[in-house]
Amino acid sequence: MRRAQATAVATLLAGAALAAAGPGPAAPQPRAYGDRPSVAALTALGRAMFDDPALSASGRVSCASCHDPVAAFGPTARTPSPFRDDDPDHDGTRAIPSLRYAQFAGRFTEHTIDDEETHGADGGPTGGLTWDGRADTAREQALMPLFDAREMANADAASLARRVAAAPYAAQFRAAFSPPGGDVFADPSQVVGWMALAFEVFEQAPEFAPFDSRYDRWLAGRATLGEAALRGLALYRDPAKGNCDTCHPSRRSTSGRAPLFTDAGFIALAAPRRTDLPPLAPSSSASQPIASLARGAQDDLGLCRSGRPGLSEDPSFCGRFRTPTLRNVALRASFFHNGSLHSLRDAVAFYATRDTDPARWYARDADGGVHRYDDLPADAVPFVDREIPFAPRPDGRPRLDERDIDDIVAFLRTLTDADMETPAAGAAGVAR
Ligand code: HEC
Ligand code: HEC
Repeated sequence: MRRAQATAVATLLAGAALAAAGPGPAAPQPRAYGDRPSVAALTALGRAMFDDPALSASGRVSCASCHDPVAAFGPTARTPSPFRDDDPDHDGTRAIPSLRYAQFAGRFTEHTIDDEETHGADGGPTGGLTWDGRADTAREQALMPLFDAREMANADAASLARRVAAAPYAAQFRAAFSPPGGDVFADPSQVVGWMALAFEVFEQAPEFAPFDSRYDRWLAGRATLGEAALRGLALYRDPAKGNCDTCHPSRRSTSGRAPLFTDAGFIALAAPRRTDLPPLAPSSSASQPIASLARGAQDDLGLCRSGRPGLSEDPSFCGRFRTPTLRNVALRASFFHNGSLHSLRDAVAFYATRDTDPARWYARDADGGVHRYDDLPADAVPFVDREIPFAPRPDGRPRLDERDIDDIVAFLRTLTDADMETPAAGAAGVAR
């Protein structure tokens, strides 16, 4: 793990360009070999900044406010509602993901052709960070919350750089990132570029990928699974029952890599509309990413509104969100991209009965009929996934019965990392 991290970082430091997102920081200037910041320095500064609320305009919101280390870098009951910091009308529309295992998402690609997984066929769009794959790297991603008015709300690179210059770790930052004979704080875009890189490197530290859940230990022959969990695992993998494995793979790869419980693919599952959000205004700008829109201003259509060229005109890309990992999923209190479901059991039951009992999940229209897939516009509905487990059995009954659902939940509970199996972490959760 360590070695892989060092190699990745060396590649970054070889002068990788920072894609311009937000108020365009410059790529950190390429540096001669012996003169590059060490992985240790980047990690330490990334960690310090991750925990520092002074980097936000309000002085109250840090990355850790939303991505709390005690909940696998996801939300907890203690997570404030930081979107409401300054303006009660600016509320988040997306669930806060755990950052554990996020580093493996890969860059976004529209066509995935992988001999091992897809046997040469096009597996469709995969990868990228955030629910719609909008960012290719954690460097690019880190700039979004730092400058998002609903998150950390920095006005520009200069004001953020001033906050770093006033931080307790400023001297460390200066020593690590100043060019020979110069001062990094002389150039705010360099400050932001190095910050973004430090976040990315920190997010590859060992605590972001421990791979030590009970299930991992079971795979390695060092732990047992209970009866219900074993039954759940079989249902999870059974192509005629849960069929979960096709998108959330549970097996080691042929080369021996630990399973990530996501293939990073983009699928439209038609999660129910969140009833606590105000009604929609008509869709206007197709290219504007949802993150820059105020609450309720537009449907959250996922991939087709990620701002990537070529995707916005095609409704088959709408309503698609990136498959999340199921590692540590039992720590969550809200599920799916919009956090519309509030128990793990409901999230699994949704797969079983979305199409056999839609009234359980979706609101009713004015005429009393069930409004299936009520968070999607009509032109995106034909592209909703209807494969197993959504497809009912030939006799019309759900693929999973109540006990099957319980068993799958028991299995999913074995995916919690060892250090999160404490009551404190179990109390995690917030409804967004
Ligand atoms: C106000 C809460 C909030 C704050 C503060 C916040 N995030 Fe996030 N983070 C989110 C949400 C919500 C998403 C999902 C965004 C989306 O899909 O558009 C996210 C997504 C991410 C992702 C992508 C994860 C994945 O699996 O795709 C990373 C990485 C990340 N945040 C890192 C950070 C860093 C670094 C900071 C501090 C600079 C930060 N976040 C601050 C709420 C927050
Ligand atoms: C066709 C691909 C596919 C299959 C099959 C599939 N999933 Fe998913 N899963 C997804 C996608 C995509 C999402 C996110 C959808 C969204 O948020 O709109 C998701 C989300 C979830 C979530 C919510 C996680 C979170 O962090 O919010 C859970 C739990 C889950 N899946 C469990 C399962 C189980 C259990 C099965 C089998 C019964 C299964 N999935 C089958 C693609 C799939």
